[in-house]
Amino acid sequence: MPVQRQNARIIDPMPNFSDEFPLAPGLCYLNHAAVAPWPKRAGEAVRRFAEENLGIGARDYPDWLKVEKRLRERLMRLLNASSSADIALVKNTSEALSFVAFGLDWRPGDQVVISDEEFPSNRIVWEALKPRGVEVVQVNLGGSDPEGALLAACGPRTRLLSISSVQFASGLRLDLPRLGAGCRARGVLLCVDAIQQLGAQPLDVQACDCAFAMADGHKWMLGPEGLGVFYCRSDLRERLALHEFGWHMLEHAGDYDRPDWQPARSARRFECGSPNMLGAMALEASLSLLEEVGMAQVAALIEERVLQLQEGLQRLPGVRLHSPLNPGRRAGILTFSRDGWDNQALFAGLRERQVVCAQRGKGIRLSPHFYTEPAVIEQSLAALGQLRQG
Ligand SMILES: Cc1ncc(COP(=O)(O)O)c(C=O)c1O
Repeated sequence: MPVQRQNARIIDPMPNFSDEFPLAPGLCYLNHAAVAPWPKRAGEAVRRFAEENLGIGARDYPDWLKVEKRLRERLMRLLNASSSADIALVKNTSEALSFVAFGLDWRPGDQVVISDEEFPSNRIVWEALKPRGVEVVQVNLGGSDPEGALLAACGPRTRLLSISSVQFASGLRLDLPRLGAGCRARGVLLCVDAIQQLGAQPLDVQACDCAFAMADGHKWMLGPEGLGVFYCRSDLRERLALHEFGWHMLEHAGDYDRPDWQPARSARRFECGSPNMLGAMALEASLSLLEEVGMAQVAALIEERVLQLQEGLQRLPGVRLHSPLNPGRRAGILTFSRDGWDNQALFAGLRERQVVCAQRGKGIRLSPHFYTEPAVIEQSLAALGQLRQG
């Protein structure tokens, strides 16, 4: 029987996930927006992979390829892409953004619209196009209608709107379907840095009319660093000029004697050489957990934890919240500061009390995941309440 929890959300009875996350006792891990701990099954997959490599090397490589295929399919489902051919496995978000930036055929005077809160990866890559005459327009998201402001900045010279669907510091979540429809109406490509959303909230690249989306696996997807996903809409694949070449990206990869070649028709064309198989083992296992729980459930549980944090913080004197209070406007990030407190001192005090968090933007960024126990949230709030200045 589903159980009804606060705010009338229906949440299925939850298995206990603490077994999946054997974190050190007393540790309050509220830093999934930075680098997440792995679930046990990811650790086991890596351990098994190490044992296999020690014992028989790559004798059973075809089995590894099956895991890689499963990973691509899991990522396809997570993004609701129409085919796993739309999915490339990449090093990280920055690499995928660079594929787009240096793949499109810019003309001098073209514009890219971004926000003024972007993580450096989604700003620098566009600014690097300055020698080609591309102009970057930064839009302030602080008003009551950030999507309206972004779309209003898209003029006749705008080719692309590139935006983090959840801002890394404030945690503001944008209305992607609205941005997608607005971009389509204006003939603008929508590029989504999804790293702060994918694995925390459902994301549907088709419903959002995304041209491109990218994310690394080490945050909300609970994987290791160094393996990410690049979604490229099928009709745009051949419009991105390639700048990395090798055997793996070829349509006939593995036919080593063939003199002629062409890039793969699928998004594998963006994967020039040997894959990060070690990372694939771990990320595939991590995503299996998210799929088991279900993204609607993951998102609902994260919102419960964020709400618990919000209510606890609001009880403390002098706390200022720098993240949206409306659940429809956030994902897993809650950033706060305290009057009279230096953020660095707050961060250091929390770290000393075993609360793993980050100092970002205007304050301290807390980011629980679906498995975070309510007791861990209470313990973190208690640690914060105990801090004394000076
Ligand atoms: C919004 C955003 N984009 C990109 C990154 C990092 O990108 P990469 O996967 O290239 O390390 C971060 C990391 O904090 C981020 O918050």
